[in-house]
Amino acid sequence: MGDKRSGARPRQPSQGGCLVVAALVLMAFLYANNPAVQDADDGIALRLARVAELDVELQGHAALRDAARSDVELARAQAEHIEAPPEPPPPPRQQRREVLTTKPESQKDYRGYTFWSSDFHISPIADLKDLFAPMGMRIIDESLSGHCHLKKTCSRNLKVITKQNGITLGQCPNQLRRKFFEAYVNDARMRSVDAFLCHHAAGLCEAFMPFNKSLIVVASTRYEIGRHDPRRWKAWNANLKAIAAHPRNVVAANNRYDAEYVKYFTGLSHVPVLPNYCGYTGVTYNPTRRQILIGPGRGVKDHFVQQLDSAARNKRFQGQQLQFKRIRDLYPHFEYSDLAAHPCIVLIPYQVSLMSIFEYYRMGIPMWAPSPELLAQWQLKYRVMSERTWDLVRKKRPTRGSPLPRAPGASHRHDPNDEFDIKAIAFWIKYADFYEWPHISTFTSFDDLVQQLTAPSLDLRGMSQKVIAYNEEMVRDLKSEWRSIFAKMFRGLQPAASEPREQKRNYDEALLAKYGARQSDRCVGDAFDGAASDWLVRP
Ligand SMILES: *[C@@H]1O[C@H](CO)[C@@H](O)[C@H](O)[C@H]1NC(C)=O
Repeated sequence: MGDKRSGARPRQPSQGGCLVVAALVLMAFLYANNPAVQDADDGIALRLARVAELDVELQGHAALRDAARSDVELARAQAEHIEAPPEPPPPPRQQRREVLTTKPESQKDYRGYTFWSSDFHISPIADLKDLFAPMGMRIIDESLSGHCHLKKTCSRNLKVITKQNGITLGQCPNQLRRKFFEAYVNDARMRSVDAFLCHHAAGLCEAFMPFNKSLIVVASTRYEIGRHDPRRWKAWNANLKAIAAHPRNVVAANNRYDAEYVKYFTGLSHVPVLPNYCGYTGVTYNPTRRQILIGPGRGVKDHFVQQLDSAARNKRFQGQQLQFKRIRDLYPHFEYSDLAAHPCIVLIPYQVSLMSIFEYYRMGIPMWAPSPELLAQWQLKYRVMSERTWDLVRKKRPTRGSPLPRAPGASHRHDPNDEFDIKAIAFWIKYADFYEWPHISTFTSFDDLVQQLTAPSLDLRGMSQKVIAYNEEMVRDLKSEWRSIFAKMFRGLQPAASEPREQKRNYDEALLAKYGARQSDRCVGDAFDGAASDWLVRP
């Protein structure tokens, strides 16, 4: 298998509980096919982050399509952040916060509660474990991800829900939900659970609704994953609104784009952003190598590399020929310390929110992203963000809009799934992580990028320090937001492990008691042709 790098080098000391030696997607496959290796090295097992990308690749993501070319002015007008004239940076406290909160809740110390996760992505939950453990919270991780062996979190005994049916809940979701409840209503481990976490796929929380426990939906990609049929999607919207309306539940996203996207289709007015922290890299910016990296680790088309190469011709950077290198071209397998050893990363993103960009940012690596209007043009021309919409992922072609209309109450002017209107694209991509977070630079062309990188005044260390300072604030905000959420969910309730909740044993009664609703028993699934009747109906 060629590469010995990750296995042979000494480990980085663990910071947040996770050691990390970067594993590549390729490596993930290699390990997947070699059980001896899987069992051999727990350190390697934690190289989940690269793999996160693969999960997303397999599950697909969202992408919009659009058209036009000339309306850049309008696009600019709608991409708020580029309108801002250069101003002295505001004092940190006034900066827009990435963690979006609602009303502050009392922050009395809640500890000892138990969360259940059956996710199709290993990274968001691994990240949350790092955050929750010092806060005294426990997560039962029954992972359904194809890469769970890397974290040794593979679900062993999960009943009813499987890797195959978990994203869609199968052809007859209503029956599956009922079966799941019946399999677990008397389960001892389930009795100790206080809340369910649903990241990827968000819709799995539909199966957890009748339990008298909190639901935490955190969309980490377009939330209709597994609910692409319009009837199924509508049913999910109805359920999601019912979930959001319950005072002990939370409906959120790990990035602003997905938060706005949920609002657009549900009309929910408050969808907090709970970003991932990804402190598990254990590495900080320490530039010793010369090449400027092009990231993320996959999805960067050759023509972009060629354009960058020609813009770099005869240009000098830190006393040497300016060089751009795709991460994968330089490192078939990399460790996080490899990435942190380069001067900066130029992003050619295939998606609006990526675990790998969280990681680069937490390591304090200076980054450049295409300006929103340039990225909108690229999207129109090249479909560079090939995973922005589910249609691009699933059908491999852009579509002109969503099968569902904007929800009453939502005010977004454009359809997020329109890949042919540059105004719609520009409107939506402005919510991408790399525009939401402070201290990421933008360029309007590759020549502009080269000019910025070769400017004598360039201060990469200074940029990195600002990012690192922001990261510290961000993690404080994030912990404080989670404490508010604990208060909202658990006020007046002891941990179920010590004082089990009352739980109705009958499915219909349980659902009625919790959501004041009953569920049809007819089947609606992506592949099923029955009448739309999957959502809750007020009795
Ligand atoms: C949920 O559990 C709490 C605490 O045991 C109880 O007070 C409440 O009535 C239960 N709710 C439902 C819907 O069963």
